[in-house]
Amino acid sequence: MASKLLTSVKVGDLTLKNRLVMAPLTRARAGREHVPNELLAEYYSQRAGAGLILTEATMIATDGCAFTAEAGIWDAERIAGWKKVTDAVHQKNGLIAVQLWHPGRAAHSLLNGGAQPISSSNKAIRDGKIHTPEGSQSYEVPRALRTDELPGIVELFRVAAKNALQAGFDAIEIHGAHGYLLDQFLRDGVNDRSDAYGGSLENRARLLFEVIDAGVEVFGAGRVGLRISPLVPFNDMVDSDPQALVAYVAEQLDRRGIAFLDLRHDQFDRPEEQALAKIARKAYRGTLMRNGGFDQASGEAALADGSADAIIYGRFFIANPDLAERFASGAALNTMDGSTLYTPGAHGYVDYPTMKNSAEKSAAV
Ligand SMILES: Cc1cc2nc3c(=O)[nH]c(=O)nc-3n(C[C@H](O)[C@H](O)[C@H](O)COP(=O)(O)O)c2cc1C
Repeated sequence: MASKLLTSVKVGDLTLKNRLVMAPLTRARAGREHVPNELLAEYYSQRAGAGLILTEATMIATDGCAFTAEAGIWDAERIAGWKKVTDAVHQKNGLIAVQLWHPGRAAHSLLNGGAQPISSSNKAIRDGKIHTPEGSQSYEVPRALRTDELPGIVELFRVAAKNALQAGFDAIEIHGAHGYLLDQFLRDGVNDRSDAYGGSLENRARLLFEVIDAGVEVFGAGRVGLRISPLVPFNDMVDSDPQALVAYVAEQLDRRGIAFLDLRHDQFDRPEEQALAKIARKAYRGTLMRNGGFDQASGEAALADGSADAIIYGRFFIANPDLAERFASGAALNTMDGSTLYTPGAHGYVDYPTMKNSAEKSAAV
């Protein structure tokens, strides 16, 4: 059967050369000041063979740090850093969208100049630890944002979107997944508010859609996407009705003509995950991208059965900068080295071999 993964697809205002999308991947190479540098430019441009690159989760505020050395986009210095990256990707005929992110309660005061983490409620993440300059720590009890503070959060995303436009990004992806701030409003396992941002699904999704609408004002709906992960438990998350959540969000995205929905599955082939994809497909006419455990064959199958328009690959893209070429030729894939995911420097970041440089090396021997 002919490959559909390697065919072009229209995503909002963009035309992707293939249906392989690179997942947002935090790699912690932007240094203590969160400034994108030449190394990031090299890394992302090596992966310009993807139909679309989604960047690592990118800080929109100086006190919105949950890792170390993740990139930021809140001011001119960081915009200039990202410009190096987008230029390098565009030179190689690639497209790149920035993932705009606020960690909410998944942050720590030790990473944010003493600022207490914020959230929809004051429920802390119970499981897991966070890496800080003073070692591994338990998560802190967050401060529930007051209603009158929420326009300020929307504003942070709006400014970040404007900065993304200036930095030369082709699109933005709003991070509504993985238990970060917008997801902390969306899912009812955390959100226990009684104002207009809590209770009903419409209320819990209100902040998310205010952020999306701000992004649309800057980029236009044809260059905005959203990531959600209704069944991913990471960061101590749960929702009582993930199917209703997807139906509502998908319908609202459709109404606004949003370019793409990035549906992040815990594992795509679980029946309850397949059910979510069906619900999204029914309610939403934009580009449905699915992610979470796909390989080449299962990606092709999801495109063939119509449950996805594009497939997002994460770990494969870490280890295989030329993933599209490898899929096209049926070449073996490099395996990912888990020990260098978040270590500083080039090793394990920009030194995974492509087929081309492996061939050149063996010709030289
Ligand atoms: C090292 C690493 C970093 C990640 N960073 C992010 C991130 O910044 N934002 C995000 O939404 N997901 C992040 N993810 C999740 C991936 O985008 C993706 O959903 C996950 O790897 C599943 O896709 P896969 O099975 O193709 O690898 C990360 C995953 C890994 C392995």
